[in-house]
Amino acid sequence: MAPHLHGLPPPPKTRPPLLGLLLPALMSTVASLPALVPRVSYATGDGRRALDFFHLEGLQDFDSLLLSGDRETLYVGARDTLLALRVGGSGPLTLQSSVPWRASQEKTAECIFKKKSNETECFNFIRVLVAVNGSHLYTCGTGAFSPACTYVDLSDFSLAQMATGQPLDGKGQSPFDPAHKHTAIMVDGALYSGTMNNFLGNEPILLRSLGTQPTLKMDNFLRWLQPDAAFAASFSNGSFVYFLFSETASEFHFFEPLTVSRVARICQNDKGGEKLLQKKWTTFLKAPLTCKVPGQLPCAVVRHAVLLPALAGVAPARVIATFTYQWQTGGSVVCEFPLEAVEAAFAGRFKEMNQESSRWTPFTGTEPTPRPGTCSTGPSSAKVLTFLKDHFLMDGEVTGSLLLAKADTTYTRLAAEQARGLDGHPYLVLYLGTDSGRLHKVVLADGGGGEAAREAYLVEEIQLFPKPTPVRELLLEPLQGVLLVGSAQGLVRLPRANCSVYPTCADCVLARDPHCAWQRERGVCGSAPGLPRGPHPSPFPWHQDVERGNPRYACGGDIGRSLRPQDQAKPDVVLEVLAARHILVELPCPRASALASYEWTQGVPPNTVIPSRIGPSTGDLLLGPEADGLYQCWAEEAGYRHPVATYWVHGPDRPRPPDPSLAGVPVKPWAVAEGGQAAPAGSRSYWPHFVVVTVLLALLVMGSLVALLVPRLAALRARGRVQGDPISPREKELLTPGDPRGAQPPDKEHPDVLEVMPPGVVGGGGDEGIRP
Ligand SMILES: *[C@@H]1O[C@H](CO)[C@@H](O)[C@H](O)[C@H]1NC(C)=O
Ligand SMILES: *[C@@H]1O[C@H](CO)[C@@H](O)[C@H](O)[C@H]1NC(C)=O
Ligand SMILES: *[C@@H]1O[C@H](CO)[C@@H](O)[C@H](O)[C@H]1NC(C)=O
Repeated sequence: MAPHLHGLPPPPKTRPPLLGLLLPALMSTVASLPALVPRVSYATGDGRRALDFFHLEGLQDFDSLLLSGDRETLYVGARDTLLALRVGGSGPLTLQSSVPWRASQEKTAECIFKKKSNETECFNFIRVLVAVNGSHLYTCGTGAFSPACTYVDLSDFSLAQMATGQPLDGKGQSPFDPAHKHTAIMVDGALYSGTMNNFLGNEPILLRSLGTQPTLKMDNFLRWLQPDAAFAASFSNGSFVYFLFSETASEFHFFEPLTVSRVARICQNDKGGEKLLQKKWTTFLKAPLTCKVPGQLPCAVVRHAVLLPALAGVAPARVIATFTYQWQTGGSVVCEFPLEAVEAAFAGRFKEMNQESSRWTPFTGTEPTPRPGTCSTGPSSAKVLTFLKDHFLMDGEVTGSLLLAKADTTYTRLAAEQARGLDGHPYLVLYLGTDSGRLHKVVLADGGGGEAAREAYLVEEIQLFPKPTPVRELLLEPLQGVLLVGSAQGLVRLPRANCSVYPTCADCVLARDPHCAWQRERGVCGSAPGLPRGPHPSPFPWHQDVERGNPRYACGGDIGRSLRPQDQAKPDVVLEVLAARHILVELPCPRASALASYEWTQGVPPNTVIPSRIGPSTGDLLLGPEADGLYQCWAEEAGYRHPVATYWVHGPDRPRPPDPSLAGVPVKPWAVAEGGQAAPAGSRSYWPHFVVVTVLLALLVMGSLVALLVPRLAALRARGRVQGDPISPREKELLTPGDPRGAQPPDKEHPDVLEVMPPGVVGGGGDEGIRP
């Protein structure tokens, strides 16, 4: 974190002292956000969600990403270095070229002299990376608090300006301070950038540079932007360029400065004024942007946004934006704003500062024509420009519709797409990067109830980076279906879905991922084909139900090979467990979904539920010796109950025919335990329990010895040895470093306890270790 300077407003996390009274109320607004549990969570290194992680020794801050036109190459702006990586095809991310781009020694020395950190700040952090044409990129960096830009010649991946030794001035294009917010977009050869224009970071700017049109900037004197404006995103549509940012609201009077989010709009054909507003914007307007959970305070700070283009005849163009709170860390909301609603605000009333009351009030007079902020072609009249000078804030606010609210999570970047499900419906899919290096894949489905009933569903959570670190950049490449994510530590590429992690039709359908569908013929969950489209998926052998995630409907005959009442649903496979006498068996229950509830049953239906206290919290079931029979672990999710694991337990010497109700279900041997030979997987996992119980027992016994047997100890010592059964060498091994003498007395005092855990289980010694 950069130290904050004089003249800067307090950082957003600071708690304004006067808000002490209000704060509990504000906090409760966050506390009541839904938890929105990810259905499946993957840690880094989980093979089910393999990540292609790229990093290089000595390189950090992979902040800017740009895909080449052919999507084969990824250009990366890392700290002091530009990289070109090969991303096309299925191979790993490979470095093609790199070129160092450091601030000069002189600039670095100046930076350190100005009390900036030589370890975290006085470097060249790349902030702008855009394509100019087929042969050149344009890039800007903080240049050790002295913003600089250069062209990159792609023919040899060299910095064009370095030939002359002098980079271009990057003021207004890149911030000075790496901690300052920025946004930049290339439209028709012109670079539109929003950032801080000075060292202190209290002079925000919207700048147009490059290209053939005149360079335009803000007139700071007019205060169209508050000194703390923090840019989050920019995009273009039609003849406009839009900027999203947050700033202190001047129009509200509150105990403390109140942060609001804004959308600003400028015309691409703006040429600046002739006499008034020379080389300055003459089409700038801004409007408030709010996103809130009903009944709660709005989320104030826009963090990132994308424009989702219109889908012909289905969905209009929309802005998807993620917000956080002003006085609270953690907790995010995501809203969508139809571009029409944004335009409506700009077409509505203006606000103006009432000179008498010093308050912002709606302007009710006559507006000049052409209306300020419209992209008229001719030069604007002095009258229009004079009006615009203090009518740049719109009265109407743009209110978003809430897509999701999540407590305890700060989303830093997002990407969005419309994914067509098998039903032809375009589902909104969000990819959200968090400040701790995770990725959330969220699907919005309405359960068939229409737009108003739309609900966010967190398909999966993936830890992208080995150490928690904020996601700084997130790109979706929809043709290859991959995500590219940048952070301080490195880059990650991953497919947007891995359908193979869902082994059965029920799993595949319950996942509710529009990118995945069950293919009956092949018996796999695969990438949903772009086709078929239309309301009748039945002729096609693919199965999916994004709306409800109901396998009963979607899998039909594929579920457990029958459509019988749910408690009689047949398993896909029965695992036969041959458990030798006296062997304790631990039966695992794979818990695939955090949204399901799990329980064990014993016997054939109608079966009895085993109270959950018997199964440890891991969900595995520990069976005593000779507990023969049928055991099933059931999952219930979205109203659908199905067996996820079915075990038929009996001993080799106690053959039992499988229950007739399981006729037709394939039987597979699971773990065979015979006379203590190869120890079964289940028995081996019992080892930690045994050690724990043994150690606890030893402690208990030692305690009892002290408390109860002290008077007898002297006598025992006098006899030299405690009487009892000899201890096998194996047991000695097990009991060390505990005192074998201490562990001995329970043989006599608690024989029933020991019988439950015969040493044969552990040592593989079979029955020999059992005491009579
Ligand atoms: C997808 O999941 C399967 C099954 O768990 C796994 O074998 C495969 O490596 C995974 N692929 C990726 C790219 O994560
Ligand atoms: C930064 O400056 C301090 C004090 O001047 C020095 O001890 C340290 O080695 C410098 N760090 C680097 C990375 O140059
Ligand atoms: C691309 O842009 C660069 C920088 O403006 C310029 O030098 C070069 O001639 C352009 N190339 C083409 C093919 O237009």
